[in-house]
Amino acid sequence: MPTHFRRDGDVALLEIDNPPVNALDLQVRSGLQAGLRRAADDPAVKAVVLCGARACFPAGADINEIASGVAFHRPILLELQAQMEALGKPIVAAIEGAALGGGFELALTCHARIGAPEARVGLPEVKLGLIPGGGGTQRFTRLAGPAAALEAITSGTELPAARALSIGLLDAIAADTVRAAVQWARRLAGGAAAPVLARAREDRIAVFEPDLFVSFRAARARAFRGQLAPWRIVDAIEAACTRPAHEGFELERQWYLECRESPQCKALMHVFHAERAARRIADIGPQVAPLPIERGGVVGAGTMGTGIAMCLANAGIEVTLLDVSREAVARGLERIGALYGESVGRGKLTGEQADAARARIRGAVEYATLADVDIAIEAVFEDPALKCQVFERLDRSTPPRAILASNTSTLDIDRLAACTSRPQQVVGTHFFSPAHVMKLMENVRGRASSPQALATVMALARRLGKIAVLAGNADGFIGNRMLQYYGAEAERLLEEGATPEQVDGVIEAFGFAMGPLAMRDLAGNDVGWAIRRNRALPADERWSPILERMAAQGRFGRKSGRGFYLYEGRERRPDPQVLALIQEVSRELGIKRRAIGAEEILARLLHPLINEGAKLLAEGVAARAGDIDVVYIHGYGFPAYKGGPMYWAEREGLAKVIATLEQLAASHGARWRPCARLREAAARGGWESA
Ligand code: COA
Repeated sequence: MPTHFRRDGDVALLEIDNPPVNALDLQVRSGLQAGLRRAADDPAVKAVVLCGARACFPAGADINEIASGVAFHRPILLELQAQMEALGKPIVAAIEGAALGGGFELALTCHARIGAPEARVGLPEVKLGLIPGGGGTQRFTRLAGPAAALEAITSGTELPAARALSIGLLDAIAADTVRAAVQWARRLAGGAAAPVLARAREDRIAVFEPDLFVSFRAARARAFRGQLAPWRIVDAIEAACTRPAHEGFELERQWYLECRESPQCKALMHVFHAERAARRIADIGPQVAPLPIERGGVVGAGTMGTGIAMCLANAGIEVTLLDVSREAVARGLERIGALYGESVGRGKLTGEQADAARARIRGAVEYATLADVDIAIEAVFEDPALKCQVFERLDRSTPPRAILASNTSTLDIDRLAACTSRPQQVVGTHFFSPAHVMKLMENVRGRASSPQALATVMALARRLGKIAVLAGNADGFIGNRMLQYYGAEAERLLEEGATPEQVDGVIEAFGFAMGPLAMRDLAGNDVGWAIRRNRALPADERWSPILERMAAQGRFGRKSGRGFYLYEGRERRPDPQVLALIQEVSRELGIKRRAIGAEEILARLLHPLINEGAKLLAEGVAARAGDIDVVYIHGYGFPAYKGGPMYWAEREGLAKVIATLEQLAASHGARWRPCARLREAAARGGWESA
């Protein structure tokens, strides 16, 4: 049975036991209903404690049941909550592990909540395109006030126990959580006055800044643009503060149903499953144990190397950061110190956490300092000869068990492996900039990479809090290979008549964090040009000369204050000189500039991603269409609520995608021709069934 009923004297313990995360599926809900009835009917039971087996409070409704509709089979969560509130006996939640979503909504319905010191609570529904549907927005707001509710629920953040206690979501923190909850419940049962439910609390919603909602909506307008759920969450929290209780609960339910039916919710559910599926590697079973990683080396103290060192240190790994000169190392360590300062400033880490992590990183200039590392990650300049040299030295200096990884974004892992005597331990670990922030880790399998080396870097990604995808060893792997044509097309659009603002504007309106040209400016046009120079193109293709000219004129992007735009701090402004440069290129190429509509811009930027993605599937560089979606969402800013490029293509209809590509091939050349894998997928009705 997924729920257990026990007695501790006059307190009934209702324990939810539904591995792996105690999700509230139909059986659990039925078990809770029966347990609550039993507690109500037994006069010897004076109070109830709700807890989860394996030190884990329920992590939410069962996501698969939300998709299939079984979440609406009775008893639904709302009925259980009504039963709890009508029980007439105090109920206390004992929260160990993560109480999330519907799980936390159950806890919020209790009369009190006791958390373990390491407990986390939160309403992450927004990450699935939903708003909480079990009164979460209403009760959270009534307990913690609207300002805290807006921050936490619109971001879906998990709050650590201490923070939850400080804002009123928890009543106490106790190491022996269940015992403390039993005592609390007993005390409530013995009290003179009936304990107050969150639903009845008015004090925290009575007073708030008058312009709270107006200013919050304005501040988040850009971050929430195009999305449904975050706006509805704001509406629901406002309703909690401005409407009678029953109306607030009713509105939340309506908006929950609206969100649940939305394409955004379906897309985000796809992403949830794709992120987890990406961890599975077909030919590597659970019997392949990852190597333990306690010490790591990072070679290259530049932007990437320092960020990677921070990722390792944040996860408790001792790191040696190595570069050729003491000055380079000192600069790297200084940067790390500054970034930790920022993390503390933004509340991402406490001062103690930052100090502890910072203390795990030490600088070095001698390879001999890597004699005890379990993994070394190379993050030097993208130069094959230099990287080979680094791998030779790593091979000589690190213990034979150590994994040697490269952060290269494009280079051949097999060539790097050939520079060592242990190619089976050589893999790619491609981080994204800024490495201590970006979620994606594109791991790369070389020809000789052993299952254990791969299992180790996949496990390492989880430990670092990253989302990992395993790519095959092909030029540009998954991300940069697809980006190549997307980026190239942005320049073609400029040649034909568009402006940088138009191109970026269309893709940002679609939901990308940043358009392709703004992204180039961020990465550096000199770097972009250097990478492009090393890459081959089919004979009938050409690169636009725009990028080369930008680099030649010192328009490197943000770092030089000018690129496709002019920069003042983070603000970008159109630059008339860039338009002149583009017009000159058009003239030289004999292209008559024309007005290009938003629809054409979008089609010409998205379709190369899809066609190239299909080729990556055909070549086995990507194992699943979902892996490509995960790479694009977490590495390149594709809007998660649109599911990623491959998912988007399926929703558009693969036949329609093919028709668009054929049309573009007729007017713009062979690079647009739909590939065989795309045609197969269209014929069979989807990527995974092809
Ligand atoms: N319903 C059904 N299955 C769930 C689930 C849920 N709410 N939450 C997690 N799972 C499953 C995962 O799919 C995964 O299954 P798999 O092993 O077959 O891939 C398994 O539980 C473990 O989850 P995973 O995310 O891999 O473990 P983790 O330890 O990294 O994280 C959580 C655990 C609970 C923090 C994380 O799974 C999570 O955030 N879940 C979603 C919570 C949520 O959004 N709840 C609100 C739902 S309305």
